[in-house]
Amino acid sequence: MSTSGPHLQPLLLDWYRTEGRMLAWRRTRDPYRILVSEVMLQQTQAARVEPLYEAFVRRFPTVDALAAASAAEVVTAWRGLGYNRRAVNLRRAAEAVVQRHGGAVPSDFQALVALPGVGGYTARALRAFAFGQDAAPVDTNVARVVARAVAGAPLTRRDAQSLADRMVPPGRAAVWSHAVMDLGAGHCLARSPRCATCPVAAACAWRRAGAGPDPAARVAGRARVQGRFAGSDRFHRGRVVDALRAGPVGSADLPTVAGLADPGRLAALVAGLVADGLAEWCGDTLSLPGAVGEV
Ligand code: ADE
Repeated sequence: MSTSGPHLQPLLLDWYRTEGRMLAWRRTRDPYRILVSEVMLQQTQAARVEPLYEAFVRRFPTVDALAAASAAEVVTAWRGLGYNRRAVNLRRAAEAVVQRHGGAVPSDFQALVALPGVGGYTARALRAFAFGQDAAPVDTNVARVVARAVAGAPLTRRDAQSLADRMVPPGRAAVWSHAVMDLGAGHCLARSPRCATCPVAAACAWRRAGAGPDPAARVAGRARVQGRFAGSDRFHRGRVVDALRAGPVGSADLPTVAGLADPGRLAALVAGLVADGLAEWCGDTLSLPGAVGEV
């Protein structure tokens, strides 16, 4: 880590003050709303999340409202976000908050990671954004910024976390993490970083070391090897869940709905949906859990 020259924190914070994204979930400190947004942002980009987040929190304005809803209602409101298991887990997390914590999202790290669908990243995001604690949520984008701008060298995930922890300006964890995220989303891009216009270029450890091999190349490389979506299990699961949002599906229609002719693969896929709480059988008909009998 470099210790001379311009400092990263003031450069980044100054830039964020005028150029930061005013995303919907950055205008609240309601822990429930921040939990919803962070679960949505786990695997979906901010621009896509924003309108769906607004609609979701209008539909389920409180943790009690979400806990009281059926999985069918929540999965239906999740349309457009993908990775539907997150919707089931989010509803279960709301139930756990009501049952274990009297309806108040906990601020304690261990209590947070005990909630369904909440891992270290989301727990730290809640601590920083909802509770103002000095925590550093490190996702792929943040890890890339830390490796390049702060370390100027490749980092393990664990080292990126501990370096990110040490970078948090005391008492300003929320604005700091937002700024790092925006730098990663707008300038410190995985494949073609925009160093010429980067607000922290003067303090960037990678640049100061001569901008040799990309310290984050390993992270970028890993992102690229993601398999094809069409034909994947996730693709076919998505087709079934999309159909179930419109109403129950008879078993005879499942091969068409799923786009799968292989009965073994289809059976395994449906069993997986049932095990994940995304579908349930009622006789010969598959539906979203809790949908039967709903108006
Ligand atoms: N603001 C708060 N959390 C965020 C996230 N995970 N991604 C982008 N912007 C955010």
